[in-house]
Amino acid sequence: MGCVDSDRQRDDPSADRLGRKLYFDVRLSADSTVSCATCHDTMRGFTDQRPVSEGIGDQLGRRHAPTTLNAALLTTLFLDGRAADLEEQARLPIINPIEMGHPSKDAAVAAISGMPSTTGCSGPHTAARPISPISDAPSPPSSAP
Ligand code: HEC
Repeated sequence: MGCVDSDRQRDDPSADRLGRKLYFDVRLSADSTVSCATCHDTMRGFTDQRPVSEGIGDQLGRRHAPTTLNAALLTTLFLDGRAADLEEQARLPIINPIEMGHPSKDAAVAAISGMPSTTGCSGPHTAARPISPISDAPSPPSSAP
């Protein structure tokens, strides 16, 4: 794939595996109902095929979800180009109140690492429950509530 920007090319198989898991992980949303794949559905051409996307709590956004297929090849993202790169693009929906609704990046990290959030967010993701292992992430501390 010689045409891929070398900055974005991810030859690291463990990063690739982690990305695949996170794409389907509903814990990235504040109420654990929405993953990236909810709006960018692999069975629907990586879109939701809706006029506007629906995020947590049945909230409707203002735009439809474009396909994320080949997103690594795009140079500017979002319809208005406001995300500079794919990393920023992936971060924004997680902390968007309509889409995935985490109050902060730290709250999202806490949710997926199985640790209680320290940002005052008290959504169900902070409840003690078994967390499916993400092989490349640090394992949750055994003293977690
Ligand atoms: C609630 C629905 C929703 C969720 C959840 C969501 N997205 Fe999106 N996504 C959208 C919408 C709507 C847009 C278009 C927004 C715009 O252009 O302003 C978009 C745009 C994008 C784009 C830009 C595509 C382009 O052609 O510019 C990428 C890449 C993307 N999302 C990846 C992700 C990733 C990764 C996640 C998970 C961390 C995610 N999205 C979660 C609805 C969603």
